[in-house]
Amino acid sequence: MPVIKVTDVAYPTLQCPDLDIQEQFLIHFGMHTVSKSDDTLIMRGDGPQQFIEICKKGEKKFISTAFKAASMEDLKTLSKSGAFSDIEELTTPGEGFITKAKDPDGIGVEVVFGIKDRKIDELPKPFPTNEGGQINRVNQLKRFNKGDTPRIIRFGHYGINSLDIEKSLKWYNEHLGIIATDILQPPAPLGEDPVTVGIFARLDKGSTPTDHHSIFWLNAHLVSEGIAGLNHVSFEMLNIDDVFMGHELLKRKAKEYDYELEWGVGRHYQGSQIFDYWRSPFKQVHEHQTDGDYLDNSIPPQILNPMDDGDPDYPEFGPSQWGAAISETFGNKEGT
Ligand SMILES: [Fe+2]
Repeated sequence: MPVIKVTDVAYPTLQCPDLDIQEQFLIHFGMHTVSKSDDTLIMRGDGPQQFIEICKKGEKKFISTAFKAASMEDLKTLSKSGAFSDIEELTTPGEGFITKAKDPDGIGVEVVFGIKDRKIDELPKPFPTNEGGQINRVNQLKRFNKGDTPRIIRFGHYGINSLDIEKSLKWYNEHLGIIATDILQPPAPLGEDPVTVGIFARLDKGSTPTDHHSIFWLNAHLVSEGIAGLNHVSFEMLNIDDVFMGHELLKRKAKEYDYELEWGVGRHYQGSQIFDYWRSPFKQVHEHQTDGDYLDNSIPPQILNPMDDGDPDYPEFGPSQWGAAISETFGNKEGT
């Protein structure tokens, strides 16, 4: 039985050597500046969250991800469970409370409660679609301002390169109630144990649907030369237009600002999101994504062969249903 079951992801905290450069990247990526001091940059999206990424000044590093607790009671229970710190008051926008721990890879895990949403008139809405013969948009032209930055509605999930992903899953399950969705295991040669390449894991919210994955672990021994750390942080966009608008804008700025397309645009298998991955000037991978799968807790973990993409004439290791195949550098140590 887990100590508590968290209800959502809240925000990641990264560390970068130059906050001005990071701020410019995140603005092009679709965020807005909440505050910037000598040592801390706080950025928000277009949703009600006060902020969706924090960046501390320092050597490039992934510091932590925060999850949301269901109640102050849960936060207290977790704080007293041994692995987590005493509760502290947050001084960031929206205030609230926090307890902190380190996971088996030494990566920070924070759980927060009571951060007040910012006041917004209403969540941006995508245009109604005219797809599949369903006419929802009449006498309304679909228009965007060319060159506008894409709209981010929330921090969606994150990926970690882990030294022992089964151990990580167990730790996150015991403390936060995280459960496996898909376990990636290529078939092992006869007589050998299968090697787990990656695990997609989600929150356990009972019968309430939740994102196909809130955490994704890749095997650090296979992708990042045994270095644990960040794989990517992922942000949910308003819809597909925003993914492609973001792609075009970052492509236009790439040379001047040192951005790098990592992988995209495509549609994933695991999670089914339409995705687009970009490297910041510090090589930390940020993903735009939309239209992911939602599952409740009735679906048991699936063991999947990542080579099995359904096209025997064109096998590839790459969770793309369509679009670009996975880049050779995805998850490498440069981004950790
Ligand atoms: Fe992702």
